[in-house]
This record gives sequence, structure tokens and C-alpha cells, in this order.
Amino acid sequence: MEILLCPDAQIAARSAADLMTEALLGATAPCLGLATGGTMLPVYADLVARGDDWSAALTFNLDEYVGLSSDHPASYHTYMDKLLFRQLARRPRASYLPRGDSPDPGQEADTYEALIARSGGIDLQLLGIGRNGHIGFNEPGSPLSSRTRVVTLTDSTKEANARFFGPGENQPSEAISMGIATILEARACVLLATGMAKAQAIARLVNGPAGLDCPATALRDHGAVTVILDAEAAALL
Ligand code: F6R
Repeated sequence: MEILLCPDAQIAARSAADLMTEALLGATAPCLGLATGGTMLPVYADLVARGDDWSAALTFNLDEYVGLSSDHPASYHTYMDKLLFRQLARRPRASYLPRGDSPDPGQEADTYEALIARSGGIDLQLLGIGRNGHIGFNEPGSPLSSRTRVVTLTDSTKEANARFFGPGENQPSEAISMGIATILEARACVLLATGMAKAQAIARLVNGPAGLDCPATALRDHGAVTVILDAEAAALL
């Protein structure tokens, strides 16, 4: 893993956007893996400001909440549409996220996994990290062999994401997420972590023992991972 230490979150986000742009413009038919969450907000703002042509690209998002339709305000479909796709003058030729309101989420997960494979795989996968070390929504205990599937969100993940839901609104307890094996098949990964809340998970990823209780540590076996950190996320290194 290559570790890139940045003085602040803005510069860290710009460095992640630089790698995404390189992958976007460096191939005739780039396939980019995308992530959601608070960490990625400045990355997408930065990418939009660059004004690049995304029309040759395919994109696959890591995950979506089970039970949310694509037009639900807290769905990852809405997040991506609002923050990236709709802002681009030339949007990707196709953008995929698992369908959260599929009548058969298990089948939807299998179909999504097959679609990624049929598309030739992901060139660069953007990743955040949960406070508990999750990547995608692969919570602690997720097998290294896991593929896109329905996962149950831990209380800590639900708590961390409660801010995206209205007061009193029912928050989904499941998601469809790419698995660890799916993520590791990406030809390269960039993991971005900013803020103190991620410092412990990052210390474990970089220096602690690898183990299923910290899913991000699976990335250590991948030969092309860049971990981009701001000073706070790197504070315990
Ligand atoms: C998002 C995702 C998650 C987030 C992680 C961090 O698609 O798969 O792994 O990257 O939960 O979220 P934030 O950035 O909100 O702290």
C-alpha cells in the first residue's frame, strides 16, 4: 500500500480526485468504481469543477440501501445523481448502482456482480472507510471471499449514517454491497480517509494485524492500493 499524507481534508480529496481523473482520461473505455458518504463530497465537487468528459466511462457504485427506491432522498442513487452525474456536462455512458427496491435483493446482488464481470472489471475503485474498518458495507466479519450480496449494517454504521435520514424516518438495516473479493478484483484502489473519527481504523489498516474484524486490512494483499489521509486520519500512525 502506498500511503499519501496530506495536510488537510481538501488537499486529500484533491489527491483522490487526481487519481480518478488519471483513470478517467487514461483509458479509452475507463471503468470507475465509486463510493458515497461524507468523505467523498469534496472529491465529487473537485471532479465536477474539472469539467472533464465522462462519456467514455462506465461507473459502478459500491453499494445501495435495501428498500430505498432510486429517487429516495437518502438513496445512493440520489446522492450520486445530485453530486456527480447531473453536474457533469458529459455524463458517463452508463452508471450502475444496485437497485435497492428490487423485489429480490439477493438476485439483484448476483446480477450486479455479474454485470461488473461482464463489463471487464473495474480499473480504479474509490473507497472510504467506516469507523469500524468497513469498506463498501462489508462489516467486520465479512469473508475475504465475499461477493456482491445483501449485508446487515452494524449499529455503529447506522449511527454514523443517521444524519442522512430525516428525523423519525425508518433507516434501512440492510444494504446490497460489493464484497471484499469483488473490491479486491479492481485493478487499483484508492482509499480516502479524513477526520479524527477514522484515525483508529487507519492505524489498524496501516500498522495493526490483518484480520476479518477490520475488513479494510484485506487491501494489504492487493498490489495497487493508495491510501490518502489528512493529518487527523493519520494522527495515530
Ligand atoms: C459508501 C461506503 C462506505 C463509506 C464509509 C465512510 O459507499 O461504501 O464504506 O465509504 O462508511 O463513510 P463517510 O465518508 O460518510 O464517513
